[in-house]
Amino acid sequence: MSAVDSPQPLLQVDRLGVRMGVQQILHEVSLEVPERGIITVLGANGVGKTTLMRALSGIYRASSGQISLAGEPIANLPSHRIVALGLAQAPEGRQVFSNMTVRENLVLGAGALKGLVFEQTLHEVLERFGVLRQRLSQQAGSLSGGEQQMLCIGRALMARPRLLLLDEPSLGLAPKIVKQIFELIASIRATGTSILLVEQNVRGALKVADFGYVMEGGRIVLEGPAAQLRDDPRVRDAYLGGAGH
Ligand SMILES: Nc1ncnc2c1ncn2[C@@H]1O[C@H](COP(=O)(O)OP(=O)(O)O)[C@@H](O)[C@H]1O
Ligand SMILES: [Mg+2]
Repeated sequence: MSAVDSPQPLLQVDRLGVRMGVQQILHEVSLEVPERGIITVLGANGVGKTTLMRALSGIYRASSGQISLAGEPIANLPSHRIVALGLAQAPEGRQVFSNMTVRENLVLGAGALKGLVFEQTLHEVLERFGVLRQRLSQQAGSLSGGEQQMLCIGRALMARPRLLLLDEPSLGLAPKIVKQIFELIASIRATGTSILLVEQNVRGALKVADFGYVMEGGRIVLEGPAAQLRDDPRVRDAYLGGAGH
């Protein structure tokens, strides 16, 4: 394919390796997130999904390979630089600052944004998450699990990212809230932000995503358009409770 046929992806990960001590956790992971895409990474516990997200965010070191965001190499840059270049993460397990207020959590997410841009972004995030507006001066630790997840995503959106990484946003939440989270993901994409989504809820993830990658043992073992993965017997048997479900 020529360069004209395939515009530069927003995120390009090329043979990324991550080592922890002597252990190789990620092996030659390659993937792409196009502009305005929702891409999902699926796989059982412990296969390396969170390690991948942390390497993309600059929290873990890449020991080999390349990562580029809009053509700019970002592997092993400090996290705050990666955020400033347009990549923000809502980490696994929510990790809001419990003893700080909702507003203080959102301010932290805004990083270096100041003045009018900050005010405008806060306004947009609170429009999206009405529940946070009502709780701005409450301690984050007093929020319900679903509200904490909204705060975690809202905090990442305060950085005005071009690419949002979501690590298991629906984990442990009630079905009604899970539905809201998936609707939220679709609505964030509609505003032009691309999303890389890690999920245990394979059915939900493949419904909202365009394209998916399946990881096993720190490697990508299968990839394809979401609709195709949904019908793939390997995905159905391992993650969707077998055929007929
Ligand atoms: N900080 C760390 N130090 C050592 N091993 C780690 C660390 N983080 C993750 N691992 C190991 O890396 C593997 C992948 O973990 P993780 O990326 O959390 O998987 P997933 O998110 O897919 O459940 C696991 O075997 C885990 O024990
Ligand atoms: Mg994980």
